[in-house]
Amino acid sequence: MLNRMEKMWAGRFAKSLDSKADDFNSSIRFDCKMYKQDILGSIAHAEMLAKQGIISISDKDAIINGLSSILEDIESGKLNFDMSCEDIHMFVEAELTKRIGDAGKRLHTARSRNDQVALDIRMYLRDNANDVIVLLKDLIDAILFKAEEGKAMILPGYTHLQRAQPITFGHHLMAYAQMFLRDISRIKDAVARMNFSPIGSCALAGTTYNTDRDFEAEKLGFSGITQNSIDGVSDRDFCVELMSAFSLIMMHLSRFSEEIILWSSWEFKYVELDDAYTTGSSIMPQKKNSDMAELVRGKTGRVYGDLFALLTTLKGLPLAYNKDMQEDKEAIFDAIETTCMCLDIFAPMVNTMRLIPENMYRAAQEGFINATDLADYLTKKGMPFRSAYKIVGQIVAECIDKKTVLDSLSLEEYKAHSDIFEEDLYNEISLETCVEKRISKGGTSVSSVEAQIEWVRKELSK
Ligand code: ARG
Repeated sequence: MLNRMEKMWAGRFAKSLDSKADDFNSSIRFDCKMYKQDILGSIAHAEMLAKQGIISISDKDAIINGLSSILEDIESGKLNFDMSCEDIHMFVEAELTKRIGDAGKRLHTARSRNDQVALDIRMYLRDNANDVIVLLKDLIDAILFKAEEGKAMILPGYTHLQRAQPITFGHHLMAYAQMFLRDISRIKDAVARMNFSPIGSCALAGTTYNTDRDFEAEKLGFSGITQNSIDGVSDRDFCVELMSAFSLIMMHLSRFSEEIILWSSWEFKYVELDDAYTTGSSIMPQKKNSDMAELVRGKTGRVYGDLFALLTTLKGLPLAYNKDMQEDKEAIFDAIETTCMCLDIFAPMVNTMRLIPENMYRAAQEGFINATDLADYLTKKGMPFRSAYKIVGQIVAECIDKKTVLDSLSLEEYKAHSDIFEEDLYNEISLETCVEKRISKGGTSVSSVEAQIEWVRKELSK
């Protein structure tokens, strides 16, 4: 337990706060992350107060100098956060007053911690959301690199985890590039909606001072101001939106992880992760485990948890500010940090993954994944698709019976099912043809995958 400093509100109270209650109430151990945003917000506030004639120019100058020196000292490690302060806002104000005296006490005119914290979180998230976008771009780059390498590697595509149709590895990877691109645009959307300044909402009702909220918002790089002071201090929907976007990133990463884990197993062995991103076992000498991918899959639950923690905290809160809302920060900080950590490890893991095309191809030769193409062959020669589908089903059953594959059945055996079959069927159902003929936009052919890579490159450069 810490020896707390005297409370600002001590005048109203006969007794001081119980020390356990004080610890319980305090948030500085996590909201100290927002020191920079808090200080920059306060500098803009002091400028606005002086411009409006609410404080003197000399007080404003003293405040700005004081705040700048605090920022410098925190960043150089000269000034440590005083954990006996309730939160970062109290800390900065107390430190300022310590440094510049009475002028420091004028800073909190025409604002409240309620609008201050709402401002700080928005600024913090705006900065950090951008880091997530940068990391997503790195991951997409790694995917493009691997997709290029694997654009002609044939493997089975799956539905229900049953071999379905032949696809290219590049095509499969490019599906993830699309997902992560949408994740970027989701974050941008959320930030655009969030980027309105709540400062000047004050405790909840606005203020009697002649403030200029628009000036302050503009100084801080917001697109505008929040239009209702109660809403400005009491909603955290922007945190929820961002956390939903992070949860979707994690969901995508988790599906990708699951596939990498499967592909790395001896049952598949389509890829081998680099030693730098795998671990061994303490007992089984042969093991090479995909721990990083597993951890990313595991941490997905944690980010979902953060999202649900905040949604649940907000549910049923009466307007406006309630202390419950202090819980927003640990959830959103954890979500953002976890997502960044996972993206940061994922890009190089994908980049260094070794592709094993022989194993992909071997798997593609089994499982009758060219059966659709055989049915299409008959259909193109005039047979209705449903009839073709039925005949091919019977041929597959015969192959299973004879323990063979479609490519090895003789023309005579084919003819027993339909005399439409000719020698050209073999070319039609070769894996290479199956893939090469799927030239529809977004399809699996090499040319289509190349077009997809090109398209994503363009989107990334926007
Ligand atoms: N530490 C508080 C939070 O994170 C700051 C706002 C406190 N406001 C108040 N009226 N108690 O929410």
